[in-house]
Amino acid sequence: MRLKQEESIEWIASRRSVFPKEFEEGSLSETEIELLLEAAKWAPTHKSTEPWRFSVIMSPEKKTKLINLQVEALFASKGESEMTAAKAGKFRMIGEKSSAIIAIVMKRDIQERIPVNEELWAVACAVQNIHLHSASLNIGGYWSTGAMTNDDSIREFLNLEEDDIHMGWFYLGRYSKTKTLVKPRMIQEDYVNWM
Ligand SMILES: Cc1cc2nc3c(=O)[nH]c(=O)nc-3n(C[C@H](O)[C@H](O)[C@H](O)COP(=O)(O)O)c2cc1C
Repeated sequence: MRLKQEESIEWIASRRSVFPKEFEEGSLSETEIELLLEAAKWAPTHKSTEPWRFSVIMSPEKKTKLINLQVEALFASKGESEMTAAKAGKFRMIGEKSSAIIAIVMKRDIQERIPVNEELWAVACAVQNIHLHSASLNIGGYWSTGAMTNDDSIREFLNLEEDDIHMGWFYLGRYSKTKTLVKPRMIQEDYVNWM
């Protein structure tokens, strides 16, 4: 199936980061998450290393465990203050409102045939596939690199090995309409150099 070119650009441009404050009641199903992760693997990958790995956190127990770890790690690294308490509240809101949280991980090719950066770029492409597909399935979500992504306790929770790089979280939930305004983008003159 091929989209018409106007449909294709319209769809790409209409993808939004939908933030958890806009998520509504209702859980996503495992089937929906599988559909998103199926899209992920069609990302380009140098030497077919397929360096993307995803951990899906959906059960209330696992979500609570994760949120508690994030909050503990925040207080341990930044101390307890009004500012960190507010941030901890935000972590709780984000975790609780998300129906599913996907940890995005890069696992390096065992033979290290590809520079680390290229492996990271391939994972980013996979995440974009997830994001575009979530838009077509009317599922809200966004990529967050915050929330104590690389704290030791989080790495342990995710069972990561030493060389694995945790690239953040993809928070997902139901939504019907986002109020988030489209962030303006540069015009081509500003980012294209015709040589
Ligand atoms: C690698 C990456 C990391 C991001 N991390 C965060 C984050 O930590 N917090 C956040 O609010 N948004 C984060 N975002 C989402 C951006 O805020 C969002 O893409 C931007 O506002 C543009 O909106 P759009 O995705 O709807 O076009 C991240 C996006 C990318 C690509």
